[in-house]
Parts: sequence; structure tokens; C-alpha cells
Amino acid sequence: MRVVIAGGHGKIALLLERLLADRGDEVVGLVRNPAHVDDVTAAGARAVVCDLEAASVEEVAAHLAGADAVVFAAGAGPGSGIPRKDTVDRGAAVLLADAATAAGVRRYVQISSINADAAPATETDDVFGAYLRAKKAAEDDLRARPLDWTILRPGRLTDDPPAGTVRLAPKVDGGAVSRADVAAVLVALLDTPASIGAVLELVGGDTPIDQAVAAAV
Ligand SMILES: NC(=O)c1ccc[n+]([C@@H]2O[C@H](COP(=O)([O-])OP(=O)(O)OC[C@H]3O[C@@H](n4cnc5c(N)ncnc54)[C@H](OP(=O)(O)O)[C@@H]3O)[C@@H](O)[C@H]2O)c1
Repeated sequence: MRVVIAGGHGKIALLLERLLADRGDEVVGLVRNPAHVDDVTAAGARAVVCDLEAASVEEVAAHLAGADAVVFAAGAGPGSGIPRKDTVDRGAAVLLADAATAAGVRRYVQISSINADAAPATETDDVFGAYLRAKKAAEDDLRARPLDWTILRPGRLTDDPPAGTVRLAPKVDGGAVSRADVAAVLVALLDTPASIGAVLELVGGDTPIDQAVAAAV
């Protein structure tokens, strides 16, 4: 499988690149900072420098040519303000969907956030509220498209080692999940066509990942 990951130097993205590359998939990571190319290469992927707040649909589409799937793993990050929640968490996700459409790539797996559906309905000065609104807007955009999409809403992310077990369902109580387990769930979702059209929340739990994905879809 050829997979293009937007936000290729993110913590989840680097773990996902390693998992996919180790089993023989061809992986491309889109990074905005040229200094991040070596890390992505070390994770087993091919790095392409592409700023998703500046690139055109045509530029991104050219990077997606021949891909079987795209994964949106970018994010403005905890230090960013309200404007970049819109330009990255919403805008870059929409750009990736536009580019996937233009490139004829149907499969799109989006990392959203738990509680995106509880985003404030109107604009807010609160950065976290703006983040949830951006995630919700990105979800709404993707859900309206005739793409083979899956939306994954992780809970609070940790850098703990992989547990290999999770709780995955359309609605779960809040909680934390390791980025390593999120990466493993993303691999399982990519491998599971029945997850197309699913919106799934993810936290730590007791169910082995393959079983959790099979049960959730
Ligand atoms: N933190 C949480 O508890 C939590 C919970 C649920 C969901 N999430 C979501 O999970 C996803 C991944 O999380 P993570 O911790 O792996 O994220 P991360 O380590 O912060 O990685 C995000 C990546 O997006 C990249 N990015 C930002 N702007 C970009 C642009 N204009 N063009 C290209 N790439 C750009 C960043 O690159 P730079 O290094 O160049 O900025 C960074 O490599 C995010 O969507 C996040 O919102 C987070």
C-alpha cells in the first residue's frame, strides 16, 4: 500500500510511518520544515517538504499521485493560537481532501479529537474551543465528500509505550491513549474497508486492537 501522511513529522505520524514501512508499505510524509526530513527518512518514509498552510491543491495533489490512502495527522499543536487552529486543524485537512479528490485517491483517514462533536457552535476566544470547532469543521467537510473516509477521535494523547489494547467505539467516556496505540489503530483502520464511513472515539482500554476495530465497525 502507498500511504501519504500529512503532518509527517508529527509524533503519531512518525510512529505510523515506522509501522507501515516495517511491513513493506510505501510511505510518504509531508513535512513543512526541511530540517525534519531526516527524522522522517529514519522512520522509513520518504519526506516531501510541503507547507499545508501555503501549498495549492494542485501541489498537494501531485504529491498524492498513485497513493492508495492519505492520513491527516497534522495539527497546529499546543503552543498555537486560534488562527492556526483554523489554518491547520481545519484548513489543511480540507486542503488534503481537495487534493485527494483531485488526485483520485479515495481513502482518507482523518485524526480528529474526542469531543469534536461538543465543539462550541459559535466563535469563541477560548483556544481549546477554537480547536474543537476546527476539528468539527474538518470532520463536517470530510463527511460531506464522496470519499472513503474514516474519522478517528483520540482522547488525550500520551507518549506511553504501546499497550496493544484500546477502547474504540462511536462514543466512549473521556480518557487518554498513547500515540503508539493510535498509530496501531490507524494501521488497522487502513486495513479494514468496513471502517469506511465510521466516526470512532479512542481511549486506552482492554481490547486488543484488531478485535476492537473489528467490533467497532
Ligand atoms: N494532544 C492531544 O491530546 C490530542 C488529542 C486528540 C487528537 N489530537 C490530534 O492528533 C493529531 C496528531 O497529534 P500529534 O501529537 O502526533 O501531533 P504533533 O506531534 O503536534 O504533530 C503535528 C504535525 O503537524 C505539522 N504541521 C503543522 N502545521 C503544518 C503545516 N502547515 N504543513 C505541514 N505540516 C504541519 C507539525 O509540523 P511542525 O513541527 O513543522 O509544526 C507537526 O509535525 C493532531 O491532529 C492533534 O490535533 C491531539
